[in-house]
Amino acid sequence: MTEKITVNTLKQFKSSGEKIACLTSYDASYAKLQDAAGVDVLLVGDSLGMVLHGMDTTLNVSMTDMIYHTRLVSSASKRALVISDMPANSYHTSEIALENAMRLINEGGADVVKLEGGRAFCETVSLLSKQGVSVCGHLGLTPQSISTYQVQARTEEEANRLKQDALALQEAGVVCLVLECIPARLAAEVTQLLDIPVIGIGAGPDCDAQVLVVYDMLGLTDKKLKFCKNFLIGKDSIADAIKAYVAEVKNKTFP
Ligand code: KIV
Repeated sequence: MTEKITVNTLKQFKSSGEKIACLTSYDASYAKLQDAAGVDVLLVGDSLGMVLHGMDTTLNVSMTDMIYHTRLVSSASKRALVISDMPANSYHTSEIALENAMRLINEGGADVVKLEGGRAFCETVSLLSKQGVSVCGHLGLTPQSISTYQVQARTEEEANRLKQDALALQEAGVVCLVLECIPARLAAEVTQLLDIPVIGIGAGPDCDAQVLVVYDMLGLTDKKLKFCKNFLIGKDSIADAIKAYVAEVKNKTFP
């Protein structure tokens, strides 16, 4: 029987130094392949607005969309932890956030919910945590509020603010934190500073975990992302490409 990955498993991986392999996932077929390939965390990202629905941003993704795709992924994954994004406008007050987080868990089957933003969201994170909801934070490039894809927190002042936000979110109760598109040195520092697992995307090799948008790492999108790699090149199947990604994250050859 495959043992289900929990928030505690991720903490153990951090303490033992085992890297955590995460990928976005939006449907049952991919979730099944990813789970079997050993992906530890499946992130039902609101990036689905772009990669599945063809929108320009994540801003019009709804709770109905997120619940639907989270249910498809959670029903097909036996081992991986499922993190589901709270879409824009679903957490503008703490009470609304709690109601919507409970829907992602009860109707979608999410294990953890993710929301974007720094210390302004600590009260919300704290309320959710006290009610037993596991929350993942997201700092750096937060697509719900930043539209140009460029490296964030490059000045000392911005880097200090990000570190303070990370510490405040941890204090408020987040169980893990995504750092998107920030300098590798800053991501390494935040990873050292925090007790919780840090998941990087475009944030260098020293985070506890790596995540990529699955369609990007299969070369299905036309984005030219410096930090991404097409894992399908030289492989016979999507399953093999995903296995190669897991192996490279685990043996620290990617990124
Ligand atoms: O929506 C998403 O896919 C994400 C990841 C890129 C971190 O938030």
